[in-house]
Amino acid sequence: MPVTTQQIVQWKQQGRAIVALTAWDFALATVLDEAGIDLILIGDSLAMVALGYNTTLPITLDEMVHHAKAVRRGVKQALLVCDLPFMTYQESVQQALHSAGRLLKETGVQAVKLEGGNPIAVETVARLVQVGIPVMGHVGLTPQSVHRLGYRQQGTSQSAGEEILAEAIALEQAGAFAIVLEHIPSELAQQITQKLSIPTIGIGAGRYCDGQVLVTADLLGLSSRQPPFAKAYVNLRETITGAVQAFAQEVSDRAFPEK
Ligand code: KIV
Repeated sequence: MPVTTQQIVQWKQQGRAIVALTAWDFALATVLDEAGIDLILIGDSLAMVALGYNTTLPITLDEMVHHAKAVRRGVKQALLVCDLPFMTYQESVQQALHSAGRLLKETGVQAVKLEGGNPIAVETVARLVQVGIPVMGHVGLTPQSVHRLGYRQQGTSQSAGEEILAEAIALEQAGAFAIVLEHIPSELAQQITQKLSIPTIGIGAGRYCDGQVLVTADLLGLSSRQPPFAKAYVNLRETITGAVQAFAQEVSDRAFPEK
């Protein structure tokens, strides 16, 4: 049976760690799903890792729909969540309903993720949940606010930490089923994780979150720039370069094909 949002919440209660990764196309999605990843996020980081933009801001809803459809075709088991891109939900609750509705109707993802925990974001989450759209929150470092926050660690002062905690609580009360905590101190993430009954999924937020997510290009060593908290489990840039050069050499030497 495919993973559901309800199951993700139950896993927190059972103390089972939630494993999440990002995907942007069919091939990667099939590999992650067959490897048993619980939650696959079509993150707007694909703007950077798959489309070559400098930030996540330029990606459009149509582009996210296109990638989400490809990922959907590759996933049978994992819970599929898709990011709402920058300025496709911040204008009004109506805009958010329209954008999230498109993602669910046109791509078959089960939930959306949006950034921020300010009162407007919280109201948006409440309304989406009310109409039956599961929402994952995202607080701490929110890359769509890069021009205001940079990529610095967030929540490092007492007051900033309290603000992020309050945002996370408000998102839970609005009905979010899980929250991404990005690049905040481990102690703050631990405190938030203990306070909430919905799961926290950390990225650069230490080991005490209920689950962990990485941008898959970072895990695979495919990114040209890595955030300081990412871990590359393999260096695919090197591996692919080696394979491509071996092919080029064999073609130049007229060694491939053999006949
Ligand atoms: O876009 C993305 O990949 C994300 C992860 C960093 C959680 O939001």
